[in-house]
Amino acid sequence: MDTILVTGGAGFVGSHVCKALSRSGKKFVVYDNLARGNRAAVQWCDLVVGDLSDRNLLQETIERHSVKSVIHFAALAYVRESILYPNMYWQNNVSGTKNLLDVMAETGVRHIVFSSSCASYGVPDDVPIHIDCDQNPITPYGRTKLACEWMIQDYARQNEWSYAILRYFNVTGNDPDLDIGEVHEPETHIVPIILLNSLNFHQEPVPIFGGTLPTADGTCVRDFIHVTDLASVHVKALEHIVATNVSAVFNVGLGKGTSVLELLKVCEEVTKKRIPYQMANPNPGDPPCLVADPGKVWTALNLNPRYTEIKTMVEHTWQWIQNKRPAWIKLKQQSIDSGSVC
Ligand code: UFG
Repeated sequence: MDTILVTGGAGFVGSHVCKALSRSGKKFVVYDNLARGNRAAVQWCDLVVGDLSDRNLLQETIERHSVKSVIHFAALAYVRESILYPNMYWQNNVSGTKNLLDVMAETGVRHIVFSSSCASYGVPDDVPIHIDCDQNPITPYGRTKLACEWMIQDYARQNEWSYAILRYFNVTGNDPDLDIGEVHEPETHIVPIILLNSLNFHQEPVPIFGGTLPTADGTCVRDFIHVTDLASVHVKALEHIVATNVSAVFNVGLGKGTSVLELLKVCEEVTKKRIPYQMANPNPGDPPCLVADPGKVWTALNLNPRYTEIKTMVEHTWQWIQNKRPAWIKLKQQSIDSGSVC
């Protein structure tokens, strides 16, 4: 059976996709530098610890495992961090992707699923955001994702590849079996930030960026999608481009907006605790409202999102945060202390 290379498969979305690949009987190998991913998240296949800057190792991995397609996650993915360190984002995301595409061309790999982002739209003219909306990203992160989309399209045209570009909206939730989950130190995404505050009640109030934005309650509105549903999209998208040789670009969201204040209330309901918060200045990199027009994604791939309620997504993350995350954080700390990558 042909092997799939999963770059960044030790990360949050990547590891959930690996679980979905394993459930659908696929053969795959993870390539990850473990800078932000977790060794414990790689449970269903071999792990090659390596960076996208290492073209020799990439090539060797592709040849040794007879790789025929790629699902590409390896990238830095924090909108606000990218404003502080744009060079890091261009180096990792764009140079890294160029290396990968060069090695794919050299080794004859012809299919790629790419993890793009709604951050590539910037502040959209119209909401919900249609797949053909203009892309005018407002952060280095969004610009690196758009640059990678263009690069993939150019390489695909020249080499007769097929690709799926998946523009994710806000990914949350957790594997309901708790085999894997989100672990960053510190967490930067809003759902774990709020839930950790509830778990460690002595923390500072949650800062909520906004208050004066042109939305119903003045805080950002986001379209949350459960990571398990997003994972299924990757498996089906890969099957689709391999079977048809036809490329596709999809917005991957549910088309439902939730404001950060509404989300906080849902977290209070789930944790059954009041969660203190404090309004903070709006962040220049955060568009006020990002809600998808998911278009054909669910019908074209013959899928139905399984977890459509924000409350269910929060419940799954809450289970993970209470029951499994503490042990994973300890593992991460031990490997940092012992000087090995985690
Ligand atoms: N937020 C706060 N306080 C915090 C952290 C976040 O108010 O302490 C707000 C942000 O301003 C934003 C919302 O919560 O409005 C969501 O923030 P996240 O950090 O959870 O997610 P982002 O929207 O900033 O970024 C995420 C991914 C990106 C992706 C983007 C699409 O990290 O890769 O969703 O919106 F591009």
